[in-house]
Amino acid sequence: MYRTLLAVTLATWSLVSGSFAAESGTYAPQKWSFNGLHGSYEKNQLLRGYTVATQVCLACHSFKYISHRDMMRAGFTENEVATLAKALNMTLDQKLITAQDDATARETFGKIPPDLSLMNKARGGLADYTHALLTGYSEDPEVIKHALPAGLPEGAHFNKAFPGHAIAMPNPLASDDLVTYHDGTKATVDQMSRDVTTFMQWTAEPERIERQKLGLFVLMYLVIFSLLAYLSKRVIWKDVKGH
Ligand code: HEC
Repeated sequence: MYRTLLAVTLATWSLVSGSFAAESGTYAPQKWSFNGLHGSYEKNQLLRGYTVATQVCLACHSFKYISHRDMMRAGFTENEVATLAKALNMTLDQKLITAQDDATARETFGKIPPDLSLMNKARGGLADYTHALLTGYSEDPEVIKHALPAGLPEGAHFNKAFPGHAIAMPNPLASDDLVTYHDGTKATVDQMSRDVTTFMQWTAEPERIERQKLGLFVLMYLVIFSLLAYLSKRVIWKDVKGH
């Protein structure tokens, strides 16, 4: 019985944590608050990530699946998101769409910056990749020559993590303090990268918090159910043996 109980628990465990565990890629694995069985999002970090996303990334990228109202799913109150939306001159239900039009983007970068709402699900390495990308720029000629003997194509920027190393996106987090955080956290490049990556992880799966709560509920249910089954089996067998 103990073994069955263990098997059921382990199976459920892997079911609940499976989708999180798959998140290691070929990029230096980072410690993320949202990884693991008890993984979750810290509200302050989500707000910091939102700050970077809207004050830096939104200049070129959209988050077309996310509105301010959606942020209530992450634990923000209607008042809080209304204040944020108002600061951007947006309504609660407007999606986060960049003001940059496609033609200008194509002219400037040769391509249209991709939508970021689902990006952390789209790329191998997921959050680790996004963080590696955002902190992977280099202007060191030696590093560039070593990785790209033929040289960096015109207009491209060198990035260690980007496949092919030549990316059209200029370093969006080129220096510290591009934003001022509401909670006094120092806005280093690394910190901004972690925060915006965490925000992007949430935009890619806003349902995760709900799903995780459900997963834990199922786990507890199964453990209790198995225990009851075990106890009733003991009671029944006691009677049988008694005769
Ligand atoms: C000045 C415009 C601009 C800003 C600001 C900007 N990006 Fe980009 N971004 C681009 C362009 C252009 C591309 C397409 C790059 C390519 O495919 O070569 C891109 C691509 C990306 C990609 C996809 C990389 C891949 O693997 O294809 C990610 C992720 C990304 N940006 C994240 C961000 C984040 C996060 C921010 C804010 C911190 C940001 N970007 C700010 C222009 C921008």
